[in-house]
Amino acid sequence: MSLDLLDPQPAAAEGLRPRALDVAVVGATGAVGAELLACLERRNFPVGRLRLLASPRSAGQTLSFRGAPVTVEVLDQDSFQGVDLALFSAGASVSRAYAPLALAAGAWVVDNSSAFRADEAVPLVVPEVNGHRLGDQAGRLVANPNCVAAIASVALAPLHARRLVVRIIGATYQAASGAGAAAMAELQEATAAAVAGQDYPPQVMAHPYAFNLFSHDAAVDPESGYNGEELKVMAELRRLLAAPDLPASFTCIRVPVLRAHAMALTVRFAEPVSVEEARAWLAEAPGVRLVDDRAANHFPMPNEASGADEVLVGRIRTDLSDPSGRSLSLFVAGDQLLKGAALNAVQIAEALVRSGAI
Ligand code: A2P
Repeated sequence: MSLDLLDPQPAAAEGLRPRALDVAVVGATGAVGAELLACLERRNFPVGRLRLLASPRSAGQTLSFRGAPVTVEVLDQDSFQGVDLALFSAGASVSRAYAPLALAAGAWVVDNSSAFRADEAVPLVVPEVNGHRLGDQAGRLVANPNCVAAIASVALAPLHARRLVVRIIGATYQAASGAGAAAMAELQEATAAAVAGQDYPPQVMAHPYAFNLFSHDAAVDPESGYNGEELKVMAELRRLLAAPDLPASFTCIRVPVLRAHAMALTVRFAEPVSVEEARAWLAEAPGVRLVDDRAANHFPMPNEASGADEVLVGRIRTDLSDPSGRSLSLFVAGDQLLKGAALNAVQIAEALVRSGAI
C-alpha cells in the first residue's frame, strides 16, 4: 500500500475518493465528538451518510453537519451495518464492546480510547510521526494515541529523526477537555461560582477546579507512584517514536484551562544538538508551529493553541544541567481536542482514504 502520509491536505481536496463514505461517529455528543464533526466538515472529508451514535441519554437530539440537522441514535449492535468508517470516542469500555462489532460489519475503526493502544497488533498512529505504520497492519483497526503522547510526539519526532532521543522528562499542564464535556462545564461553573464568592462542591473532578491545579485524576499505581495517565504517556511515546526502551518520566497535572494541553519537556539525545539546529528542524516540521520569541517572551500558550491544528513548540534552550550539550528543554502546547484527539483521528482516516485502504 502506498501512503502519502505527510500530505497536510484533506483527503477530498486531493480528489482521490470518488465514493462518499458511510461514516459513524460513536460518542458524537461528547467534547471530542463535536470536534470530530467539525473536522470532518471543515476538511471536506468525503462523508456520504453520517450516523451519530451516543447513549440513550442523547437519543433524538439533533446535531448539525454541513448545515443540516442529523439525529443522534442510540449505539447498539446493529449500528454499523453498511458503515465504511467508524470513529470511536465514547471511552474504553464502549470501544471494547462495540469496535469488534464495527469491524465484523466490515468498517474501518479509528479508536480514540485507550482500549487498544497497548496492543502491538494495532497500529498507534500520528500521521506526521509514524504514518507508515498504517500500511503494515493486518486488520482494520487503528488506535489514536493519548492526547499528551500525540502532542509531544509531534514536537519530538523532527528532533528524534536527526538525533536519537535517549531520555525524556516531562511535566504536563492538562486542560479540562481531556476529562470530557462535563469537566469543561465544571471548570466554567466552578470559576463563575468562585468569582461570585459562592461554594462549588466538585462533581466531575475529585478536587476544586477553580483557581487550583491537581495531580491528574487517573488512578495511581501504588507501587510506582505514577498515575495511569503518566504510564500511558510514557508507554505510548515509546511506541510512537519506535523506541521501546526509551527511559521516560512524566508528571501529569490538571490545570484550569479549557481545551489545550501544555507540557515542559527535557530531552536528552544520543549526540549534541544546538538550539539553532532544533529550531530549524522544528520550523519545517509538519504539524508544528514554532513559537519561540525570546525578545518578546512569547512562547507556546494554551489560549493560542486552542482551536489550532498545529502543535506550538518553543522555549527551546540547552539544558544547563547536562554539560554534555546533548539535552534540550522545550515548552509545547497543543489543542487536546484537535491534534490530541479529533483532528488526529480524521487525519488517520484521510491517510487511509488517500492510500485506497478505505
Ligand atoms: P451521551 O452524551 O449520550 O452520554 P465526553 O467525553 O465529552 O464526556 O463524551 C462522551 C461521549 O461518549 C458522549 O457522546 C456520550 O454520550 C458517549 N457515551 C458514553 N457512554 C456511552 C455508552 N454506553 N454508549 C454510547 N455512547 C456513550
